[in-house]
Amino acid sequence: VSAADPPAAIAASWDANAAAWTGAVRAGAIASRRLATDAAITAAVLARRPRRVLDLGCGEGWLARRLATERVEVVGVDGSAALVEAAAAAGGGATFLRLAYEDLIADPGAAGTGFDVVAANFALLAEDLVPLLSALRRPGDGPLAAGGALVVQTLHPLAAGPPYRDGWRTEDFRGLDGGEGRWRPMPWYFRTLSSWVALLREAGYALDDLREPAHPGTGDPLSLLATAT
Ligand SMILES: C[S@@+](CC[C@H](N)C(=O)[O-])C[C@H]1O[C@@H](n2cnc3c(N)ncnc32)[C@H](O)[C@@H]1O
Repeated sequence: VSAADPPAAIAASWDANAAAWTGAVRAGAIASRRLATDAAITAAVLARRPRRVLDLGCGEGWLARRLATERVEVVGVDGSAALVEAAAAAGGGATFLRLAYEDLIADPGAAGTGFDVVAANFALLAEDLVPLLSALRRPGDGPLAAGGALVVQTLHPLAAGPPYRDGWRTEDFRGLDGGEGRWRPMPWYFRTLSSWVALLREAGYALDDLREPAHPGTGDPLSLLATAT
């Protein structure tokens, strides 16, 4: 993994991990998702009573499929061709497009417009997110409808562990690997709580709601879940 160009390294890791990721998500192998975070983002999106949702960085498509069962019209986009293929193959009524965030910055309407919610579930991994987040709400051609909401779920800083400062980290999927070494390490950018809030503000959003979905047994927070308009 090249540290010199993290966005390229992020993309390369998701291409390499596509099959393992699809298997892990669909088998419910990630306990935090099963226990808390899947239901939390689903509820946060549905709380907006959306007619149309853009699932940004949709991966193999579970959230899009889940929302489609609630009669929501969903478009899922992801930069990984293999993951978009897996999402499309699973069907479930949503539409999936291969689009990198960089494509959406260049052409904010590329996935369509008039979405009541843009949801990003553990999918904002880069350092400089202002161009993407502001493109989402650009009046005229941005995907978010006027009055629409961005719903972002990300790893809770306590779950990520120290040091408590913004910076690049590497996820090695050790908990999912079973010692087989089939995962390619993924670079991702850790931010503190105040850094998330500042990012949303800088990109033009007001924070409407911030939750901390927790492990039902221990009460430890697993994620941060923000709704911003
Ligand atoms: C941890 S996975 C989450 C997938 C899905 N949201 C879920 O909840 O299972 C992160 C996803 O973000 C996508 N992603 C990361 N950076 C991207 C970029 N610059 N453009 C498009 N997709 C990107 C990856 O391809 C990957 O599918």
